[in-house]
Amino acid sequence: MTKVAIVYYSGFKGVTEKIAEAVAQGARQVPETQVITIHTDSVDNHWQDLGEADAIIFGTPTYIGGPAAKFKEFIEKLAGDIWLQRLWLNKISGGFTVSAGRSGDKQSCLQQLATYAAQMGMLWVPVRITGGNYSSQGSEDDLNRMAGYLGVMAQANIDQDLSDVPPSSDLQTAEMHGHHIASVARQYRLGRQQLPSDYDLALDRCSSPEKPAVLGDLVS
Ligand SMILES: Cc1cc2nc3c(=O)[nH]c(=O)nc-3n(C[C@H](O)[C@H](O)[C@H](O)COP(=O)(O)O)c2cc1C
Repeated sequence: MTKVAIVYYSGFKGVTEKIAEAVAQGARQVPETQVITIHTDSVDNHWQDLGEADAIIFGTPTYIGGPAAKFKEFIEKLAGDIWLQRLWLNKISGGFTVSAGRSGDKQSCLQQLATYAAQMGMLWVPVRITGGNYSSQGSEDDLNRMAGYLGVMAQANIDQDLSDVPPSSDLQTAEMHGHHIASVARQYRLGRQQLPSDYDLALDRCSSPEKPAVLGDLVS
């Protein structure tokens, strides 16, 4: 089985959670794929799931032009065993965000998510299609209407009910991205079985600690 984990924070209205479900739905459509969604509040119950995952997808709302503080709190827990021992090396990764503004500085947020993945040695997967809503023929119904490439950019009007936001085009884009990342993860997993590198063999993913030490524990 290919294992895909989606780790997200959602706090204000639950919009990011809704998008995480769409990403998961897309990933589940890939054959032999197991998908788990994890809110950052419960991440401490899931370190082994994350250790065993072939792909980890990051999701956070854009708050003040970057990832939510609670999401960063999760990332800082990686600064210890996971970062130092390269436990997530070569895991497939990708990300998504949502904001109220059309821009809302979502680009900064996604750049930050890609940097987090790079710090862990993960392989970042961009959105696979070109941007929509590019011309007079385009519309808000287009897939990838925000024309994001680094990851999924969704947008949710701040005054609307959760049942009405984000628009279905954003949810479909999220679903497509989940499917794409899971497909890449499956190809990579099967390819690595055929052609493992020396350091792949050295990494025993199943030995992932139940509660990885953070940097403070390691240096004190
Ligand atoms: C503390 C805070 C900061 C925010 N900062 C931004 C921002 O920088 N740009 C923007 O367009 N929207 C911003 N928003 C709006 C959220 O990104 C938007 O409502 C999003 O859908 C919330 O997702 P959630 O319900 O999963 O938390 C902010 C909202 C909050 C609560």
